[in-house]
Amino acid sequence: MSVLVDGVEFAERVVAWQAAHGRNHLPWQQTQDPYRVWLSEIMLQQTQVATVLDYYERFLARFPDVAALACASQDEVMGLWSGLGYYSRARNLHRCAQLVVAEHGGAFPHTAEVLASLPGIGRSTAGAIAAFCFSERVPILDANVRRVLTRFLGFAHDLASARNERLLWVQAEALLPTRDLNNSMPRYTQGLMDMGATICSPKVPRCDACPVAPTCAALMERQPERYPVRTRKLLRRSEAWQLLVLQDLHGRVWLERRPASGIWAGMHCVPIFPDAASLAAFVATLGGSDQLTQNELQPFLHVLTHRDLHLHPVAVRGTFADRLSSDGEWLGPDQWDGVGLPAPIRKLLNATQAQLW
Ligand code: ADE
Repeated sequence: MSVLVDGVEFAERVVAWQAAHGRNHLPWQQTQDPYRVWLSEIMLQQTQVATVLDYYERFLARFPDVAALACASQDEVMGLWSGLGYYSRARNLHRCAQLVVAEHGGAFPHTAEVLASLPGIGRSTAGAIAAFCFSERVPILDANVRRVLTRFLGFAHDLASARNERLLWVQAEALLPTRDLNNSMPRYTQGLMDMGATICSPKVPRCDACPVAPTCAALMERQPERYPVRTRKLLRRSEAWQLLVLQDLHGRVWLERRPASGIWAGMHCVPIFPDAASLAAFVATLGGSDQLTQNELQPFLHVLTHRDLHLHPVAVRGTFADRLSSDGEWLGPDQWDGVGLPAPIRKLLNATQAQLW
């Protein structure tokens, strides 16, 4: 299939537009090293370019290649990821690096199909890496590109259905460049991402600047905002958590490793309780409670994709046993950066430390 826009193939329009108006100076565009491209694509999965830039440079300075990342400790990887959120990405990143070293001789596979078998690499990310690094003729379909393509095609099927999602992948394949793939595949892939990020925005798209506007179905219908169609709404839940910030007289805080699955899995965190009574019962077991100073801190809201967490921190200061349980340790402020702390917990600890007792 060849989709023409004013007599020129859709893909050629996207490629020409990318060269003239797209983003061409992002650090991960200056390389075809799959390690660097993979790292950037994982970081960019849920995070804006502006936030990723610093993390990307810091990560590469510490782990310049996949072998360095593979032999790092999980704590160090989580520490460098701290603040980027969606921490399963960091755990998968680490596992993926170890698999690339153990099973692929330290070299990333060259096809989207094999890349997609690695942890944390879905079909779209695999497509992006394969197109950017190896010019493979494969589509991508992240949220931005899904918006561009459903609008251009007037694809009105509900993407809550897996069948419709597959149908869109087939259409995305049909739109791919057919010529000069070495040059066109990376540019086309980046061009769709750039159009999604800079022109074809969710609310008020800038159709006057769009290279494929002349035959965009959604524009002809005068309602680009209608696409993509997805009926299933995410169910949001709300939870209240009590956070216990135990601080000893040296300013060290008791931090426990979170379970391997669930929110903040594998990261370090202060002890969490479902209600104030269970927190108080735990504090009572610490002994010498008459010598402890207790302070309720300002509650705050932390918003996750599917959940609102209402966090109620309580700080307790005093002298404690060296080990309160086997899955935690006392860590001072100079050690907090070296372990993975969820961003709201890091902020809380910094605020607690600054507080005068
Ligand atoms: N989002 C996902 N991949 C990207 C890339 N290569 N450049 C800019 N934004 C992106």
